[in-house]
Amino acid sequence: MKLIKNKVLYVTMIAISVAYIVYVVSANLFFDPQATHFLSHKTSLNHSINVPVWLNVLHIHVIVACLAIVTGTINFLNKIQRKYRKFHRMNGYLYILAVFAVCGTSGYMAPYATGGRINSMAFNLMNIIWILMTITALIQIKRKQVNKHRKWMVRSYAYCFTNLLIKFLTFVLYDVLGMQYDMSYTSAILGTILLNYSLAEIVIRRVYRIPTHLGLSKNIN
Ligand code: HEM
Repeated sequence: MKLIKNKVLYVTMIAISVAYIVYVVSANLFFDPQATHFLSHKTSLNHSINVPVWLNVLHIHVIVACLAIVTGTINFLNKIQRKYRKFHRMNGYLYILAVFAVCGTSGYMAPYATGGRINSMAFNLMNIIWILMTITALIQIKRKQVNKHRKWMVRSYAYCFTNLLIKFLTFVLYDVLGMQYDMSYTSAILGTILLNYSLAEIVIRRVYRIPTHLGLSKNIN
């Protein structure tokens, strides 16, 4: 029963990832490459924005973010973890590179965040947390702490859905409930930080409650 539940969760995760990648790539690289809609909400910025550079950074951000989602999703597959360890390792390093690239590009865009300073700070906070969680996951597996590695990877992977959650919450607050845009966006970012944390902890408690080991060592905590 638990195995079936986990399979359903994993298939749902793949479906959401694929649908979201198709959406985010087509929206940002093909239908609105000038980000006209998103930029139209940047009305009260503290810094003047160099739009061509910002757009190039955004496009890189979107591509590396999709790479993080793909590599992250693949590495949670049990079969990959058990049978193809070399692939899991290489794919894991690719995930780490992607996370650093997302945070680097995010670091450039953060000062120009819609809604001003509070959102710039929130994005930078997320950059720091995401990098620290990902490095902690790497340190744990270097110490052969398989279950700790998995838990930290769940916490790190949750950040792959940051933009999806911000968009969803902004949609609910702005389009559905009619809140002012900047306020909706700020609340959505803060809500996303809480949701990233909570969703990861729920998955950890439900899926990785009972330690399993891959035969790496006796120490499986
Ligand atoms: C990994 C999945 C992610 C994807 C697919 C993604 C995608 C995007 C997209 C499409 C935008 C343009 C704005 C929009 O249309 O929403 C954007 C903006 C931005 N993203 Fe990401 N993002 C991801 C994760 C992150 C994370 C984890 C952070 C921070 C740690 C971040 C920081 C930013 C910043 C600072 C902006 C500019 C926001 C603004 O100007 O108001 N992104 N992202």
